[in-house]
Amino acid sequence: MTVAFALRRSRTLLRTTSYSRCYSTPSTVSILGKKYPIDSTTNVTAAIVDKVGRNLYMDPSHPLGILHSLISSHFHDFNSMTGLPPVVTPAQNFDDLGFPPDHPGRAVTDSYYINRDHLLRTHTSAHEVETFARGERKWLLSADVYRRDEIDASHYPVFHQMEGARVFAAGTAGRAELEADNARLAAHLARSPIVIEDVPHLSPTNPAQPAHDPAHAALVAQNLKLSLNALMLTLFGDRAGAGEGVPLRVRWIEAYFPFTSPSYEVEVFFRGKWLEILGCGVVQQQTLDRANVPDNVSWAFGLGLERIAMILFSIPDIRLFWSQDPRFTSQFTAGQITTFKPYSKYPACYKDVSFWLEQNSAGLHDNDFCDLVRDTVGDLAEDVVLIDSFTHPKTNKSSKCYRVNYCSMDRSLSNDEVNAIHARVVTSLVEKFGVEIR
Ligand code: DAH
Repeated sequence: MTVAFALRRSRTLLRTTSYSRCYSTPSTVSILGKKYPIDSTTNVTAAIVDKVGRNLYMDPSHPLGILHSLISSHFHDFNSMTGLPPVVTPAQNFDDLGFPPDHPGRAVTDSYYINRDHLLRTHTSAHEVETFARGERKWLLSADVYRRDEIDASHYPVFHQMEGARVFAAGTAGRAELEADNARLAAHLARSPIVIEDVPHLSPTNPAQPAHDPAHAALVAQNLKLSLNALMLTLFGDRAGAGEGVPLRVRWIEAYFPFTSPSYEVEVFFRGKWLEILGCGVVQQQTLDRANVPDNVSWAFGLGLERIAMILFSIPDIRLFWSQDPRFTSQFTAGQITTFKPYSKYPACYKDVSFWLEQNSAGLHDNDFCDLVRDTVGDLAEDVVLIDSFTHPKTNKSSKCYRVNYCSMDRSLSNDEVNAIHARVVTSLVEKFGVEIR
């Protein structure tokens, strides 16, 4: 999930869908006790607002909390922050970090807007400027983040990220600190069972920033790499499944993020596959300048807790993190990474819905359909697939067919029950999007 902004977000801006009809008080949305006026940009749904404040990562015996504690104790001398409210401005989430005005991440099809001036943060990087501005020099920040997405076993519109950063003085004092810390970390890694496939710290396609001395930027990049290689050892070292004495394999890849240069992604070879773990880089100087700490250089990283927890605890479906079923919750103990034992897989039951879109309508984005399903049936939808889409050559009308797979994580659903829930989805689709069912 960490590279979503760089790679997956290629969709174009479609129309705004107002979900104002979802609210009993149609003119405002209330989040954490604060009321926000809605406008034509509002697309946050009641099902999403309902998740705000759950803070799963703060529960020390929840898999996300266990992982959060493990990472916090690895960076034991970093200030680990939690609990920042999720409502941010487009400036915090995008502009301050150098996102271009036409970046797809800003689209209403990809992000949950409360109104045109507020959205649910799509990443923990949204808090970088304010955290640097407070003078934090070694920090971690964990939070719930929100993205409109498809429905399947590895995507959920709310997930959790951890951001980390370390700031160094730009001058000679910074250089001495970097050299000492790099030597310490390199010595630790040299004694550890780890094999690293590296890329150059700097390259023509992954350059130092014009504002930086390249030698200094390379030391910062090296410190970032050493720090994260050590984290990978803590997280995956004895658990990679390669067998006793077989070293952990970590590989570094050049990447692109609007808010870092150079930028990298980290992958780990785990149980026979390369897994993408995080994104990171040397923070764009404009972010530090904006935070009023100009004479410094910083590295930063961001990782998705669910992705890593699913791997470490062998959790097969992302919806399980939200389960309050004791058969799930009772399996985990603070401070321990254990393998999840599936209690049952209840039978799935799929239902299709085919429809004509209103003529001249701007269309229905897949994410609009997924949000409608979630808002109507909650976590009973296991996945949603667009199985057909075409435009009639004569009438020019567009048709779509989605297949919704219904499956509860806690019990069996009867066919009658699924028919009734699916009927609610169909009714809501007609009401909200004016489609004609085929
Ligand atoms: N915010 C990025 C995302 O959600 C992840 C990320 C990449 C965070 C690079 C960083 C960074 O701090 O340096 O996709």
